[in-house]
Amino acid sequence: MEKTFLMVKPDGVQRNLIGDIVARFEQKGFKLAGAKLMTVSADLAEQHYAEHKERPFFGELVDFITSGPVFAMVWEGENVIASARTIMGKTNPSEALPGTIRGDYGVNVGKNIIHGSDSSESASREINLFFNEEELNDYSKQNEAWVY
Ligand code: TYD
Ligand code: MG
Repeated sequence: MEKTFLMVKPDGVQRNLIGDIVARFEQKGFKLAGAKLMTVSADLAEQHYAEHKERPFFGELVDFITSGPVFAMVWEGENVIASARTIMGKTNPSEALPGTIRGDYGVNVGKNIIHGSDSSESASREINLFFNEEELNDYSKQNEAWVY
């Protein structure tokens, strides 16, 4: 089953949005395979955002993501990578539609509440960066045909 990496950023944790965000993905029908509240080190932040190393906002991005606890998650389900990006809304919250997480809660592009993998390559890379195999749970023995 397809998996993606999602992370409530420090602003989302500080604003008590973990429960709301988890609820949205549960209600959609996705399965939570792993989750933990953690503080991201500078090293992990730089690896996670390596694709943005040359961008002018890289320093601020690393400072922000390491500034307080994040809620890191692995979600699974049919087409979950693209679907989660739709549920999150556009990167810039001022362009994100109402009803999306960023559209409902965000204003500033630097503090946009949630991260989500943008492709299957980044999903596997990011899941492996943040989680060990034994931290991920398996629903495959349950009959969940009704979910979708
Ligand atoms: P990006 O991967 O383009 O967006 P997304 O999170 O939607 O995949 O950028 C990563 C993060 O970098 C983004 O969530 C917020 C931050 N960022 C800025 O601070 N300024 C910017 O101009 C951009 C494009 C991103
Ligand atoms: Mg991205």
